[in-house]
Amino acid sequence: MPAKTAQDLRSQRWFGPPTLRGFSHRSRLKQLGHRHDDFVGKPVVAIVNTWSEINPCHAHLRERAEAVKRGVWQAGGFPVEIPALSITETYFKPSPMLFRNLLAMETEEILRGLPVDGAVLMGGCDKTTPALLMGAASMNLPAIFVPAGPMLRGNWNGQPLGSGTDLLKYWTERCAGTISEEEWNDMEGGIARSPGFCMTMGTAATMTALAEALGMTLPGASSIPAVDSNHVRMAVNCGERIVEMIWQDLKPRDVLTPAAFENAITVDMAIGGSTNAIIHLVALARRCGLSLDLPAFDRISRRTPVLANIRPSGAFLMEDFYYAGGLRALMAQLTDLLHPECLTVNGRTFGQNLAGASVVNRDVIRPRDNPLAATGGTAILHGNLAPNGAVIKTSAATPRLLQHTGPAVVFKDYNDLAARIDRDDLVVDENSVLVLQGAGPLGGPGMPEWGMLPLPSRLLKKGVRDMVRLSDARMSGTAYGTCVLHISPESHVGGPLALVRDGDLISLDAEGRRLDVRLSDAELAARRAEWRRPERKYTRGYMALYSDHVAQAHEGCDFDFLEGIAPTPEPEIH
Ligand code: FES
Repeated sequence: MPAKTAQDLRSQRWFGPPTLRGFSHRSRLKQLGHRHDDFVGKPVVAIVNTWSEINPCHAHLRERAEAVKRGVWQAGGFPVEIPALSITETYFKPSPMLFRNLLAMETEEILRGLPVDGAVLMGGCDKTTPALLMGAASMNLPAIFVPAGPMLRGNWNGQPLGSGTDLLKYWTERCAGTISEEEWNDMEGGIARSPGFCMTMGTAATMTALAEALGMTLPGASSIPAVDSNHVRMAVNCGERIVEMIWQDLKPRDVLTPAAFENAITVDMAIGGSTNAIIHLVALARRCGLSLDLPAFDRISRRTPVLANIRPSGAFLMEDFYYAGGLRALMAQLTDLLHPECLTVNGRTFGQNLAGASVVNRDVIRPRDNPLAATGGTAILHGNLAPNGAVIKTSAATPRLLQHTGPAVVFKDYNDLAARIDRDDLVVDENSVLVLQGAGPLGGPGMPEWGMLPLPSRLLKKGVRDMVRLSDARMSGTAYGTCVLHISPESHVGGPLALVRDGDLISLDAEGRRLDVRLSDAELAARRAEWRRPERKYTRGYMALYSDHVAQAHEGCDFDFLEGIAPTPEPEIH
């Protein structure tokens, strides 16, 4: 039974009344050629589309919105496509993470300020997924997410190339002198061969998988390659389904429950997901009035095996993952660790949606008795260097370095790193610990993905391919190495990372979940007394707003005034 009637529709506040304003609102849709009965009394669906010509990951979303519209029309709704900020990971500087909260705000206000009853959210490139979900959770109108889908496998010389991961791998070889300029240039045209997001298990593939694990997509949606015709049909289905969701009044916060977040964390660990997912899930949970802390990730990580054999942790790519059965098949291996009762946007439970899912290729999606790693891909560290936590992607690290003590080589910011990393007078060897300061939420600002610090060329030429690296930055989900990230509090606000100096001994103990600098409390206090906060970089515009309100990494980097579920009044219509 529908929970709503046509009179209950939110859009009726604009289009229903026989008033001056009602006349005005109706006449302007008639100006666009729509008939009275097309939209009056019909669910109005906002298709919030992050398509842009500067965002290759979303190149197909303009066309895909037409498929969504087809579904909306067929189900008796009225679709309106509304463009939203396209945060392209490749081009948005100084750091796309700065703009996640801007798109989240934009999404919330589009849904609040316009005559819409529900939303189809179209995104996928890293920050767009959490941003759209955060905005939709805050406004809490019925919403369904259309993942952009991964691009096809890269190809160079007959070898599959993975976004980011192989770029970084071959750049390292280029710096070591083992790849020619001609080979390097050749790869440029082969690594990204179609629309769609990065096809390694980077942040985009992780976050769209987690959108599905949270219950915010149709079952199986996140694994479909962007250019597969199944992707078009999935988009049509989303258009159809949102109309039903509006009548049923099924809203994001009905789906985004504590158990749904546990499901998402479990899936994150089992896919060897991007470390960025931790920040985004914490922020999204807070938008739902839930508290999600870092120990929850560690607890779930310890009991969850990594089953997805996808780069950077594994060998394959997202196209292979889809052909192997996709996320549903992977999740079906984990039912004892998941909450099957969670409601999802198709109106069925998470468990019901897994019925019949099976693995086609057990090398790509490993069975429980032969996992890629016995426990989850990410560990949470604490210690005197990270009182509020730090993150390491153990599945993409060098095992022997996960327990390591070495002298610090400190860079005060990224420019300092770039200027000195290859200098002959830098005192560094393979046992050193590279430390980057000034790269956190405020210091970067925006926690740029600088966490996979480059290795000194002279060590690369000696054959060194990994070292322990620490920072308050993030790392691309496509990156790899023994990189400790998200150290909180960050150095810019006086976290202990700011106090580390060259030669200090740093201890990483991933098994013991510790990150420490071997300095006494008295020495740390003395250094803190001398420490001076760096100048703020931005004083105007959105950047000033960001700098005034952004939270630390362990809190999800949201703005303080956007967290929680305090209601914002519906707009008055005069
Ligand atoms: Fe868009 Fe990687 S650049 S997902």
